[in-house]
Amino acid sequence: MSVKESPAATSTFADLFGRDPAVRADAPGRVNLIGEHTDYSGGFVLPLAIPQRTRIELGPRIGPLVRAWSANVESPEILEYRLGDEKPVHGWLDYVQGITDVLRQDGYTLRGFDLRIESDVPVGGGLSSSAALEVSLLRALREAFGLEIDDVKIALAGQKAENDFVGAPVGIMDQMASSLADDKTALFLDTRSLQFERIPLPAEAEIVVIDSGVTHSHSAGEYRVRRQECERAAELLGVRQLRDLGPQDLWRLPSLPEPLDRRARHVITENARVRSAVAALRERDLPRLGKLLYASHESLRNDFEVSIPEIDDLVELASEEPDIYGARITGGGFGGSIVAVARRGTGRKAGERIAARYGESGKRKATVLVPTA
Ligand code: GLA
Repeated sequence: MSVKESPAATSTFADLFGRDPAVRADAPGRVNLIGEHTDYSGGFVLPLAIPQRTRIELGPRIGPLVRAWSANVESPEILEYRLGDEKPVHGWLDYVQGITDVLRQDGYTLRGFDLRIESDVPVGGGLSSSAALEVSLLRALREAFGLEIDDVKIALAGQKAENDFVGAPVGIMDQMASSLADDKTALFLDTRSLQFERIPLPAEAEIVVIDSGVTHSHSAGEYRVRRQECERAAELLGVRQLRDLGPQDLWRLPSLPEPLDRRARHVITENARVRSAVAALRERDLPRLGKLLYASHESLRNDFEVSIPEIDDLVELASEEPDIYGARITGGGFGGSIVAVARRGTGRKAGERIAARYGESGKRKATVLVPTA
């Protein structure tokens, strides 16, 4: 990798590379309605896309050189590497290098390219800015080089890049959501079989997403620790993954050492809550859906211990809003955002009231991301 110059954040592809892009592609961030920290145990999730997206412009080159630029860093620079010579540099370029590395390993033929990235998915907001980058780049590469890769394979390639190259041991939810979901339909996904069903949001419901302003980092230890705890709990209980247990097995958990008993209880009850949430959506029973969201939050806070006081405050403030049915932490945790379900047409105002009360001390600032202003 080498640093070339420092073009302004507003630079166009033509400013940066002296020609127009050949291909444009984009992909959304996601918000998970329910089914948190279940995917790496083979469980169920229910994400939707959010309106915020990552946008890619790309122009193929002759030879193996990749030149890449992102508008979303403090002093944007054109970074370079050669295909076949991908090496982690511990920055955003690793997502790009990870994708080309995985594609080549999987036997796809690529050439070098020039790349411009721009995104309005907040980084560290629990809304999958990384999956949006991976999926949008894979879509652009598919088009530019005629790759035969379908949307599920795109999700798998994104996850592999993040696991093997970036070093974040994430599950498959985010990439599947970014590749396959839209913002009006929840993607009911079985993360083991990758079978999915699209569940429309009832017309009376509206999704609200509020960013706490506290950012997280997945390659940081806690996510990895939770994953290992779930794997260990499954091993001690004699099943392949916690997904293989249901509410009828909860009596077995006291045999596990603390905190594995609580971790397993979260995953088992959360998988059951996802199924109940799908039923509630089908029956348009929003009060029931709301209760499931609050129960999920309690479980993530007390049993799985991935919440933080700021997020708990946002959920508490949401619970005081008459037009909000339910709310919970969304994403990997340790910061990020909450998701809430509101009565249609009321979400933006309710979100703004919650953000205003959250910021009253002047020490912290929340942002209503969905519904967009
Ligand atoms: C992150 C990971 C996902 C999933 C969630 C928690 O977003 O990327 O795979 O594990 O955390 O549900």
